[in-house]
Amino acid sequence: MVEVAVIGGDGIGPEVVGAGIRVLEAAAEDDPSLDLEFTEFPWGCEYYLEHGRMMPDDALETLAAFDVLYLGAVGWPTVPDHVSLWGLLLPIRRGFDQYVNLRPTRVLRGVESPLSEAGTLDITVVRENTEGEYSDSGGRIYRGTPHEIAIQDSVFTRRGVERIVRYAYEEAGRRRGLLVGATKSNGISITMPFFDEIFREVGDGYQDVEASLMHADALAARLVLDPGSFDVVVGSNLLGDILSEVTAAISGAIGIAPSANLNPEGAYPSLFEPIHGSAPDIAGKGVANPSGAIWAGALMLDHTGHPEAGQRVLTALEDTLADGVKTGDLGGSATTDEVTGAVVERVRNANAGS
Ligand code: IPM
Ligand code: MN
Repeated sequence: MVEVAVIGGDGIGPEVVGAGIRVLEAAAEDDPSLDLEFTEFPWGCEYYLEHGRMMPDDALETLAAFDVLYLGAVGWPTVPDHVSLWGLLLPIRRGFDQYVNLRPTRVLRGVESPLSEAGTLDITVVRENTEGEYSDSGGRIYRGTPHEIAIQDSVFTRRGVERIVRYAYEEAGRRRGLLVGATKSNGISITMPFFDEIFREVGDGYQDVEASLMHADALAARLVLDPGSFDVVVGSNLLGDILSEVTAAISGAIGIAPSANLNPEGAYPSLFEPIHGSAPDIAGKGVANPSGAIWAGALMLDHTGHPEAGQRVLTALEDTLADGVKTGDLGGSATTDEVTGAVVERVRNANAGS
């Protein structure tokens, strides 16, 4: 049995994970080896406005009992973003040592990329997810005065850089053997040369992977100009965040891309979510694109040892989009519910045929 903790969160979050759950349940219908159990937790900004915290104090203890976590989105205009995110998503990523943020993107059939044809863009960003620029070390002094100072330390540890870079070399080895490390060691003169050094050191053990370092600004430009030349990109927390949203956008729409927050050792549950945010402007309207959440669900199936089911889900999603059943962000006119229903139907057909 796979026990899934579900945090719908804010805005379109509950709508898209609801869609994902319907698809996952369909995938499990005829598959005796796949027994999914979903438990929902009502945490997020509404919970915050009522309880003064985004989730209960013992939330991580509660979640630790689950195999995997399935998250919608976090953030709502009535709560400052740094409060909502540092109250829910970021403590989970860190508390559960989910140091790999894996963000695959490709142009699915039926989706128009602003840049590429389907099949010509297939990039996975491996983003460091527990340290780097996202640190709560620092502070503000002389608040409200003309001398006010804000300092936030970037934290790069040898262990942290080594393990993410190693994961990226392994991932490149499993894929097309091409790895680009995102750096900015021309301007950020202490932490980034440290990152580069470790990138090269770890690379000595992976002669079969063609690896190079690229400054993140030039890398971003090349992603736009020549996306087909990339396979795996590895970057620090901030650089990986930015570059993965570029790859998501150039693959067609940010509403499609999934994100896996992995604790590869399995000491803690991993978390699966769409890359997109809570989209307050379209929340509650039933028009959100469920694709990112559905693809994230497919990654969750892969991670829990059900790659065939994961493939059935992804193929069903791609077939649905290719048949023109798409939400407005992809140029279609279907609702969340219609897209989900179409994916469920195709998963069921695949079940029957397998
Ligand atoms: C993401 C998001 C988060 C991040 C924000 C909301 C803190 O942008 O998951 O990509 O930067 O990690
Ligand atoms: Mn982001």
